[in-house]
Amino acid sequence: MTNIDVFSKDLSALHTPLVLAVTKKDDELQVPTFPALLDFARAAGMTGKLGEVNRVPSPHDFSADFVVFAGVGSPNTPADVLQNFREAAGNVTRSITSEELAFSFPTKNREEVLATLEGALLGAYRFAKYQSNPAKTLQTLYFPSGDALTETEYSQLQATIKAVTRVRDLVNTSPLELYPDSMAQAFKKASKNLPVSFEKWDYHDLKDQGFGGLVAVGKGSKRKPCLVKLTYAPEGAKAHVALVGKGITFDSGGYSLKPSSSMLTMKSDMTGAATMGAVCLAAAEMRLPVTVTAWLCLAENLVSGNASRVDDVITMRSGKTVEITNTDAEGRLVLADGLTMATAQHPDLVIDMATLTGAQRIAFGTRIAGVMGCQKDRIRDASVKVGEPAWTAPLPDYLLEHLHSDVADIANSSSKREAGMLVAGIFLKQFVGDTPWAHIDIAGPGFNTGSAWGYTPKGGTGYGVRTLLEVIAEMGR
Ligand code: BES
Ligand code: MN
Ligand code: ZN
Repeated sequence: MTNIDVFSKDLSALHTPLVLAVTKKDDELQVPTFPALLDFARAAGMTGKLGEVNRVPSPHDFSADFVVFAGVGSPNTPADVLQNFREAAGNVTRSITSEELAFSFPTKNREEVLATLEGALLGAYRFAKYQSNPAKTLQTLYFPSGDALTETEYSQLQATIKAVTRVRDLVNTSPLELYPDSMAQAFKKASKNLPVSFEKWDYHDLKDQGFGGLVAVGKGSKRKPCLVKLTYAPEGAKAHVALVGKGITFDSGGYSLKPSSSMLTMKSDMTGAATMGAVCLAAAEMRLPVTVTAWLCLAENLVSGNASRVDDVITMRSGKTVEITNTDAEGRLVLADGLTMATAQHPDLVIDMATLTGAQRIAFGTRIAGVMGCQKDRIRDASVKVGEPAWTAPLPDYLLEHLHSDVADIANSSSKREAGMLVAGIFLKQFVGDTPWAHIDIAGPGFNTGSAWGYTPKGGTGYGVRTLLEVIAEMGR
């Protein structure tokens, strides 16, 4: 983990490479914290645009080897300033490899300090697990005192970074070693030193206790499904939030097999569960005054002589029967069983998160999640606030017709492609009853198959962690 060191030394006397923000105000280029270097920045080719990062040898009267200029654009609203600082700082730590960096950004309040630090720490992420010769990583981030944060703010920031890192690491891990049981063990281990209890339903428990969805999806693999429940229940909690995550450690599609090009990246189909587990642990680490239960619905969707067929009719944990019309619509089956368990505890809010539909990617692209369900607005608002914008979509009941089955209560997929993201949401809605609920489809933003940008790396992004922590923190206020 990167150390944060607050310093107040003379910037030009630093031996550590210095990062300077470059802005553009009323068409004028500025280096707000070091005006004397304006011409130097201009000569380095800076125009102040967000995304620009230029590394140049230091001026001769500097002690450090190099200086980095980072464009932060011309943000207008306070929220834009936060997001631009976050992204600009991330652009630097993502693209510059150095064990030490000193940041000098024109932060005017603690929110701006926090956003800059958050972006810098998130951008410094590297996944080197399988690399024989990993590059250096950022060890220490020097950050001018000015707006020194409180101990609590620092530890909450570190808990947030840890949670995002945990999600990225799990998502990026090869599915050869990450499967339902190993993922469960990872969370069991992580919960040991925290006030978080760990419970697990193994394959035989799932069969005995009627978890038809989890069993149908996971039984085709030698590495059987399981359900994990993490509970953080602080004394005097002001509310109870239940989190349900889709944890398909690899999605081949099953007998409704995916074409091989669509199967690539399907190790990331456990992102929802990884996020819910990491958020529960972080809430405990931050001692948020809210009870958080996380339900991780873990299964591997493979083909074998023991896998589900299409035409199979299964009985879910809730008692509803489902005709499997497409084995690749597996996420909703495992989530439905998780939602049944979560809602049975009557929490104040149930949120599920899943890489659920290709349709979500088509509709909203790769940076914005889709949020559905009666509690969608509060999720959207929190997501915009923390810079992980999600947007809302309706779940009109007439769409239930698309899931009509001639033999069972409901089918798991529609033969029509229209409104694929919403139809999946409508399926889930049948398992939540009256409990206040939001469904977040992160098929797009959960995994970055394009190039890295801002503080978002390629591969697992950790998108959604900060939104959920914000929602939980709000419920504790
Ligand atoms: N895991 C996929 C959804 C997905 C696709 C996530 C691309 C990330 C990127 C999901 O299990 C799936 O296969 N959904 C099907 C549903 C369909 C069969 C109704 C889909 O979207 O095609
Ligand atoms: Mn699938
Ligand atoms: Zn899937």
